[in-house]
Amino acid sequence: MTIPTLLVTASPHREEALGNRLARKIAARKGGDLLVRDLAAEPLAPLTVDYARALTLRDPLPRSSATLELSERLIQELESTDRLIVATPMHNFGMPAALKLWVDYVLRIHRTFAPIPQGKVGLLADRPTLVIVSSGGFHRAGESKQPNFLTPHLEAVLSTLGIRAPEFVYLEGLVGRRATPEAMIAEAVAALGDAWY
Ligand SMILES: Cc1cc2nc3c(=O)[nH]c(=O)nc-3n(C[C@H](O)[C@H](O)[C@H](O)COP(=O)(O)O)c2cc1C
Repeated sequence: MTIPTLLVTASPHREEALGNRLARKIAARKGGDLLVRDLAAEPLAPLTVDYARALTLRDPLPRSSATLELSERLIQELESTDRLIVATPMHNFGMPAALKLWVDYVLRIHRTFAPIPQGKVGLLADRPTLVIVSSGGFHRAGESKQPNFLTPHLEAVLSTLGIRAPEFVYLEGLVGRRATPEAMIAEAVAALGDAWY
């Protein structure tokens, strides 16, 4: 059975980005339809006041709003696919603004998560999810020279959507990189968990 995959990418380097190349290689190997949401090629519009009101009013009224419609379209991309790959650079220790804006559109109260006394519960179906993080420097133990707020932030976002066990792959040290892109892709592929074979 072939499973459709959603690839969310946020690199200004677009298809040349190593993370994108890795993501497409993995997606091609898994087969099935690939839906691509390229946040650099097609930037999302800033949030509007009607969207903010709809999300924060205690009893939101259904409104006809371009921002709500875009939110709905982006959420439906998640709902119409069964596998998720996010390929993102690290920008200033966190996710790039383009990806954060996507999060603000898809992580929507009473739509993709529900508030409960204990916190927030995700309303999307869980799915195999891979997050590829590219960074100019190093942030993991050993070679770490900077904090990494991207991983815990995106983990919290995905878990609030209902995605419980995302796998993270790191392409580090890309500024002044020592290995060839092909070698880095091969190393990352070799380290993948069973869900991505
Ligand atoms: C605005 C900006 C901020 C960046 N911040 C960081 C950072 O905090 N840590 C880091 O290691 N690299 C940082 N970089 C470097 C990128 O992470 C690096 O170039 C990476 O390869 C980009 O991935 P991409 O090819 O997928 O775009 C930054 C780059 C830009 C453009």
